[in-house]
Amino acid sequence: MSNDQRQMSLVGFMQAGSTTVYAGSWRHPATEQGFLTSEFYQKLGRTLEEGCFDLMFFDDRLAMPGIYGGSVADAVRLGARPVKLDLSVVLGVVAGVTRHIGLGATYSTTYYSPFHVARTFATLDHLSGGRAAWNVVTSVNDSEAQNYGFREHLGHDERYDRADEFMEATTGLWDTWEDDALVLDRETPIFADPAKVHELRYEGKWFTVRGPLTVPRSPQGRPVILQAGSSGRGRDFAARWAELIFTGDPGLEVARSHYRDQKERVGELGRDPATVKMLPMAYTVVGESPGHAQERERLFLDELVDPVASLTLLSELMNHDFSGLALDAPITDELIESVSGIRGLVQNLRRHIGGDTVTLADLAGHRATLLQGPRFVGTATMIADQMEEWFDGGACDGFVIAATHVPGAYEDMVRLVVPELQRRGLFRSSYSGSTLRDHLGLTRPAAAATSRTGA
Ligand SMILES: Cc1cc2nc3c(=O)[nH]c(=O)nc-3n(C[C@H](O)[C@H](O)[C@H](O)COP(=O)(O)O)c2cc1C
Repeated sequence: MSNDQRQMSLVGFMQAGSTTVYAGSWRHPATEQGFLTSEFYQKLGRTLEEGCFDLMFFDDRLAMPGIYGGSVADAVRLGARPVKLDLSVVLGVVAGVTRHIGLGATYSTTYYSPFHVARTFATLDHLSGGRAAWNVVTSVNDSEAQNYGFREHLGHDERYDRADEFMEATTGLWDTWEDDALVLDRETPIFADPAKVHELRYEGKWFTVRGPLTVPRSPQGRPVILQAGSSGRGRDFAARWAELIFTGDPGLEVARSHYRDQKERVGELGRDPATVKMLPMAYTVVGESPGHAQERERLFLDELVDPVASLTLLSELMNHDFSGLALDAPITDELIESVSGIRGLVQNLRRHIGGDTVTLADLAGHRATLLQGPRFVGTATMIADQMEEWFDGGACDGFVIAATHVPGAYEDMVRLVVPELQRRGLFRSSYSGSTLRDHLGLTRPAAAATSRTGA
């Protein structure tokens, strides 16, 4: 191994609640049901940190699944993601017991405000010593809208237009304090230099923010920006703002073409594509032998997920009530056109499963969740082989590891797969820096003077 060998980034794909992205996770015999305790999240954070993961990232949704059959009853009964805790509190308790691992949370540009988000993540960045990351989402469906005083979710591209403004205002707020604004001189007395703390006076179509932020500039300058746009508009948004991009591509070929396309979009905006990492979400199912791994996988796929739980989650992602459709109904172009949620995921999945013959039952059953990515199954060596194939094959810069059950899936990764990746020189054996930007090889951005004058 040479010292400058390219290495993977690894992210733990967390849920602050009862269910991982895999709908049957809460029923798994090894799942710990501690999702309402601090210790549960602290243990997960420590486990991932032992494995030198770059980042512990929590997804979010702002509503219980309530589109399928027009009710939350199935989601509640079957445990299809009915619980979602507030992420800033969860990350706060993990920050207190970890030293290195990055801490990422999802916040919506459609339902929060720039000041709120800028303040939350700047605070987390200070209190964690420079480990904060924000996953920028525009949210997905009407259930979320209805919890925030709207009847319907905004249209797809309009959400991204709004998100562009949101980012201008938020990054502007992070730059309202210059790095050396705090003086703390008791004698003079000068607390901070007013010439170095600026109003933002941002005025856009959607947002008006005066500023300055009530939090001084944070250790990373700005928290790391995560994003997972997959539509054309979403990819352009990610190309402008993201530093880590998450994807949900099911197969190697789809992932390669996504990787090329996204990096080109980054380059076209004058950014260096090498500084923007792309990470597909992936499941890993580790076994002592190939047969043992397959047996464990069968339990996940065939026995623990109720098809209605899957359809409940599918309806949320697509913003479409599938309860009226028979399980053997084909997934046609017309059907896909008629839904307003995440179309790209289902289009990719349909292509991956097998063209026009895909039925609703296939979608419901396929990997038991609709947030798709590759599933790596086998011994630790076999899993490392597959990860290496993707990583060296122009498909990704690392992985967002989703869990079939917690904390077991991460304990397996850290105990068995990470050492194999380390032996191959594909992953770090210890942290060399202290901030998340250090782990990711990202520079600390300078405070932009122009953003302080507003739009
Ligand atoms: C790994 C991963 C994590 C995601 N996490 C969230 C999340 O926490 N909340 C959310 O509303 N959407 C989440 N998404 C969905 C994306 O934000 C995005 O809406 C989706 O990929 C569709 O892209 P588009 O908006 O460009 O159509 C996630 C997607 C992926 C691949």
